[in-house]
Amino acid sequence: MSEPVLSVENLSLRYRVAGGAVAALRNVSLSVRQGEVLGIAGESGCGKSSLAAAMIDLAGANAEVTAGAIRLRGQDILRLDQAARRRLRGREIAMVFQDPMTAFNPVLTVGAQLVDFQFNLDGVPGREKRARARDMLARVGLSDPDLVMGRYPHELSGGMRQRAAIAAALLMRPAVLIADEPTTALDVTMEAQIIHLLRELRAQYGCAIVIVTHHLGVIAELCDRVAVMYAGEVVEEAPVDELFHDPRHPYTRALIACDPARIGKATGRLPAIGGRLPDLSDPPPGCAFAARCGIATDRCRTVPPPRVAPGADRGVLCHEAAP
Ligand SMILES: Nc1ncnc2c1ncn2[C@@H]1O[C@H](COP(=O)(O)OP(=O)(O)OP(=O)(O)O)[C@@H](O)[C@H]1O
Ligand code: SF4
Ligand SMILES: [Mg+2]
Repeated sequence: MSEPVLSVENLSLRYRVAGGAVAALRNVSLSVRQGEVLGIAGESGCGKSSLAAAMIDLAGANAEVTAGAIRLRGQDILRLDQAARRRLRGREIAMVFQDPMTAFNPVLTVGAQLVDFQFNLDGVPGREKRARARDMLARVGLSDPDLVMGRYPHELSGGMRQRAAIAAALLMRPAVLIADEPTTALDVTMEAQIIHLLRELRAQYGCAIVIVTHHLGVIAELCDRVAVMYAGEVVEEAPVDELFHDPRHPYTRALIACDPARIGKATGRLPAIGGRLPDLSDPPPGCAFAARCGIATDRCRTVPPPRVAPGADRGVLCHEAAP
């Protein structure tokens, strides 16, 4: 099996807030290999965006990495100086956000910005950068690239903007593309098209893709492997088929059982997992899921669960998961 392009090792990150800190990531480890699509799933507030942002070193001014490493081709990016980190962004790792307006400046045309995004390409003339931008817009399925180049971001539809944002991210040929909920703002048809596009791009460019979503359908369609997060931890990691057919963590089981797509067909009702995420400013001493878990024991409430490996490429954070 090839070496990971990007790996996160025992990463802990907290946000400083008035009167304390929020432990948004706790001892998170995962990796993605070239040509692989890794999905990050979990309910709102479990730390998906924090992890995605940390991977591209954009976690924000009040974020502080308290432990761990983020390795790009083996090199810990957290140990590089600011200038070296900036060079990596765009060239090696690029990000697509949920709201593609975030990627663009509203007062400049899309074309001008796609040229600017290529600032890393020293010595390439502007004319060639325009040609590359036009070519990339065509590749992401925009049928009239010249028209799109001349427009302002707000003059495009949501789906067109999301494609243009993906084109912007790909112009640097990044080794890793990180997409944080890139389809949630779109309707179902557009969403299917964007997923199809990401699959094609993976095949065409061989880049690794990390996609954050709370939508299990997107995971099933697009991903090779999945990391399920809960309260700032990766509680289960598995190849996608194994996760859906043989989930081991009680939270993963609940998530799959509550998937609206599944439930909608089976009963027409949409149940939710009872209870709430624990307070991340004061995480519980044992398993973070204990208060909501149907099989929790006293040990679960007091002793942090071990990471169990039920198979190759699998990991489960649970006292009760059999290896
Ligand atoms: N800049 C910040 N300052 C303080 N707390 C933050 C900040 N960003 C996120 N958090 C907190 O960190 C935790 C994880 O948030 P995060 O945005 O990573 O979750 P998420 O899984 O992406 O959620 P969603 O599905 O709603 O996007 C939450 O408790 C959130 O309130
Ligand atoms: S460690 Fe215990 S409480 Fe946590 S998920 Fe496993 S069984 Fe449930
Ligand atoms: Mg998020």
